[in-house]
Amino acid sequence: MPASYRTKPTRIVVVGSGAVGATTAYTLLLRDRAHEIVLIDANHEKAQGDALDMSHGAPFVGGAKVFAGDYADCEQADIVIITAGAAQRPGETRQDLLKRNIGILKDIVQGVLRYNPNPILLVASNPVDVLSYAAWKLSGLSHKRVIGSGTVLDSARFRYLIGEKAGVTPKSVHGYVIGEHGDSELPVWSRTNIVGAPIVLSDQEQDELFSSTRNAAYQIIQAKGSTAYAIALALDRICASILDNEHGILNVSTYLEDYYGISDVYLGFPTILSGGGVKSIVDIQLSENEFAALRRSADFLKERIVELSLS
Ligand code: 2OP
Repeated sequence: MPASYRTKPTRIVVVGSGAVGATTAYTLLLRDRAHEIVLIDANHEKAQGDALDMSHGAPFVGGAKVFAGDYADCEQADIVIITAGAAQRPGETRQDLLKRNIGILKDIVQGVLRYNPNPILLVASNPVDVLSYAAWKLSGLSHKRVIGSGTVLDSARFRYLIGEKAGVTPKSVHGYVIGEHGDSELPVWSRTNIVGAPIVLSDQEQDELFSSTRNAAYQIIQAKGSTAYAIALALDRICASILDNEHGILNVSTYLEDYYGISDVYLGFPTILSGGGVKSIVDIQLSENEFAALRRSADFLKERIVELSLS
């Protein structure tokens, strides 16, 4: 629902005004997602420039106020979206960014908590699952209030490609990509359907379609240096589900605790989002092969987590 329908003033803080952060703020503005959108960046002038540029669109959109701020502005934030950090360069994997981005994340979490002891943190910086786990550990918050963008975007890419192949709108495709937002992620073919009807594709067609999903970011980064638009829309959707207490189900990166033996890891999984953040995960009953692939993805992420020596 647009912010103007809500009685309580809402504020979303976006940390990082790079390609993803600035595009996210712009998307939130277009969608009238909050009354106030605050941009924080180490380069304050850049955040100011972006905020001013967006503010000049005020006559054409809803009433959201966009401004550049600092961590003190997190005090009244309903959601803090973390997009800051190094982005992938052509040829790099998301995991290659871990060493560069963990230090930046620590500073951000400290900065936010100084002014808001109980925020909802939505991590988008990569590698998103490991950084979401780190944000949860470092913050001491309930894991219900710390999530990552996870495989929301990968699932959207998957649905788009299936929709293209079937000649239907991706909105009518129910498809899930789960696990790491990265190379070990997996498609849940056993639960993928178009308004309930199974999708009939050969094994080769399935493999090709999923490869295009998994490699989409590499392709876009090669072409233009970064991805931004679809992740911004995904982040906006996550915010909507939280701010409107929608109980929407999205494959955010969330904490798994004894999911058939998978524990103490963040990964993309169907999750019900409500006003307080995570309500619960949805047990989508994976096939045996899918579960084995999920376990491999979880094991891979747990190894990355151990390398950080956080737990
Ligand atoms: C994406 O998948 C790079 O993680 C970013 O678009």
